[in-house]
Amino acid sequence: MAGMFGQRIYYKEEMTSTNTEAKRLAVGEAFHGLLVLADQQTMGRGRQGRSWSSPKGTGIFMSLLLKPELAPEKAAMLTPLAALSVAVAIEKVTGLPALIKWPNDIVIGSRKVCGILTEMSTDTNQICYIVLGIGINVNTTEFPPEIRQTATSLLLEKYFAAQKKSKCQKKGTEDLPENFKIDRKALLDAVLNELEKYYEEFLLQGDLAFLQEAYNEKLVNRNRQVRVIDGTEKNEITGTAGGMNEKGELLIQTENGLVTIRSGEVSVRGLYGYVE
Ligand code: BTN
Repeated sequence: MAGMFGQRIYYKEEMTSTNTEAKRLAVGEAFHGLLVLADQQTMGRGRQGRSWSSPKGTGIFMSLLLKPELAPEKAAMLTPLAALSVAVAIEKVTGLPALIKWPNDIVIGSRKVCGILTEMSTDTNQICYIVLGIGINVNTTEFPPEIRQTATSLLLEKYFAAQKKSKCQKKGTEDLPENFKIDRKALLDAVLNELEKYYEEFLLQGDLAFLQEAYNEKLVNRNRQVRVIDGTEKNEITGTAGGMNEKGELLIQTENGLVTIRSGEVSVRGLYGYVE
């Protein structure tokens, strides 16, 4: 871990939520780049008021505290930046094909393996701090019923890939899912490295144009029919997703023309399910 991110770590076996803890520490003058890490969260938080399942010893539950000199309206760009960082890190460490569901879910196949929750505090149009919360299902084997159909883990995906391969080679496999455990420390280091690299470049460039192509190559929604639903679940747009632009917005071709969607409190789904 050579860079600034994660040089200082605040670790506890159990926290309610690493984001909540990072926000508490930020008020107490904690440093830019502080990594808040837990082995288990008892009240892990997701987007749109949802919870994030965080059983002991299974995942990466981390929050990075950032104190950038950045216009508040640019803070939302950090979430797709983080999504690309995690997807690249997952591919490097596990070899699994990690894709991005706009703006910030990482999926393998059509199931979610990582979620990102960015929270910001501002004061008279200045950023006080940003907390970048990342949850990765690494060695998880069991999920709560409400997400069983849409969630997966890196361990399970490695196991399924090995099963497929051994079937193709007409060999039975006695391998158990436990034999596909992924080194969480190696993955955490890779995530921090990618994050810092993209983050530094973003501060120099001021927008996401430099990573737009890499992001769009991994965009699972691209050229697919999508439904965009706002937080109230009352307004809905359907159309074909294009790519993400340099501001981190998703372009959608609708019957009435091209629409630009900002992340905020919207969710993007396939016409029939979570991705498709
Ligand atoms: C989502 O997809 O809804 C976002 C999930 C974010 C979960 C992570 S786990 C670490 C950090 N602490 C939290 O309470 N939430 C984020």
